[in-house]
Amino acid sequence: MATSSSAPLRVLTGITPSGTPHLGNYVGSIRHSVRQSVAPGVESFFFLADYHALIKVQEPALIQRSTLEIAASWLACGLDPERVTFYRQSDVVEIPELTWFLTCVTGKGVLNRAHAYKAQLDKNIAKGEDPDADVTAGLFMYPVLMGADILMFNAHKVPVGRDQVQHIEMARDMAQRFNHQYGEHFTLPEAEIDDAVATLPGLDGRKMSKSYGNTIAMFAPRAQLQKQIASIVTDSRAPGEPKDTEGSALFQIYQAFASAEETEALRKAYAEGIGWGDAKQMLFERIDLEVAPLRARYEALMNDPAEIERILLIGAEKARKLARPFMAELRHAVGLRNLAAGAGKGGARKAKVAKPSFKQYRERDGLFYFKLLDAHGTALLQSRGFASPQEAGRAIAALQQQRGAALAELADQLEPAGPEELRAANEALEALAEATAPTNGS
Ligand code: TRP
Repeated sequence: MATSSSAPLRVLTGITPSGTPHLGNYVGSIRHSVRQSVAPGVESFFFLADYHALIKVQEPALIQRSTLEIAASWLACGLDPERVTFYRQSDVVEIPELTWFLTCVTGKGVLNRAHAYKAQLDKNIAKGEDPDADVTAGLFMYPVLMGADILMFNAHKVPVGRDQVQHIEMARDMAQRFNHQYGEHFTLPEAEIDDAVATLPGLDGRKMSKSYGNTIAMFAPRAQLQKQIASIVTDSRAPGEPKDTEGSALFQIYQAFASAEETEALRKAYAEGIGWGDAKQMLFERIDLEVAPLRARYEALMNDPAEIERILLIGAEKARKLARPFMAELRHAVGLRNLAAGAGKGGARKAKVAKPSFKQYRERDGLFYFKLLDAHGTALLQSRGFASPQEAGRAIAALQQQRGAALAELADQLEPAGPEELRAANEALEALAEATAPTNGS
């Protein structure tokens, strides 16, 4: 069908608000994903994984602060909330519901093998403690919550670091199991690991990570940035002695910000024995060149948390416009249904029961319209005007075939509908599909 080949690529990115964003987050995720979000044919979802934060952080003020900081960072780096769907996970109340559906198709054995959980067990065992010491059920269930984040929006691509690849594979597995059991509802997501996106070394040369305490804050004021850069570990070679670029954290960080020519110039300076103090000054100026304009926007945003709150609430509404009807479809699929809507298999007289129907018509404006009517003739959905009857017909066909998923996709071609109306429309589409499906045997 035409819609599937021209459908945008859905890319979904989540960050757990459990700390202050650092240059590793910027180079490894934020910079790349914001750039990608303006590419044609890409539909991006950006969210703050605050439910995930509860697994690691039991300090309420820290979660609130970090959520604000990460939201402000994305916006400062150019994320356009008009263009992408930008939201806070906990505002999309459908996500915990989907988490439960997925929980019920996920093997416990699969979760037993999750790296983050296993690492904790191994640590306990190594210390001679009870393997489950300090392991919450939240840590154990982490991959399922993440699966719900991804599958809720039928993301095709999920850009992640290598440590998260296993989680994407698990989400795929959940989607497959669910689809197998209940019909094709989920797109199978794929991890996107961009090897061009450097893993930034931290101050001590190990991967820059909050857990190593070796980070450079992304939006530290100029003086503090300079101080942090001054503390990058180097060897003890004196000015005038040639230096190795290989294994030099300073060099690698520079490379993540600089052009190829700039990098070559520093390589040459290393060979010619640049002093560490001068090299650090070069690095500082180069980072500051890129970060200074972003820092100014970041500071303005941090001073207006109400504005960020407002943006996130609008984003949540946008996300839920997709999540609500999709969840209604899934509820129906698993059997959480309106009892009066007629049973599926074994509904003996279903063929005689009046069915919902589509009505197509032309208005005096010359455009072509349709309505979805319930069994009693009440309108459940009202289309906008189409230039031709064929276009209206295609939209109807999509609704008949893809039901809830098409409801979300065609949102622009339909008059706005509230959650109750969407739920009723979705049930009508399901009922219609069931009534017109070939009867099995009886
Ligand atoms: N677990 C991810 C991290 O800690 C954050 C995250 C939560 C996420 N849900 C997601 C990332 C869904 C991608 C997709 O980095």
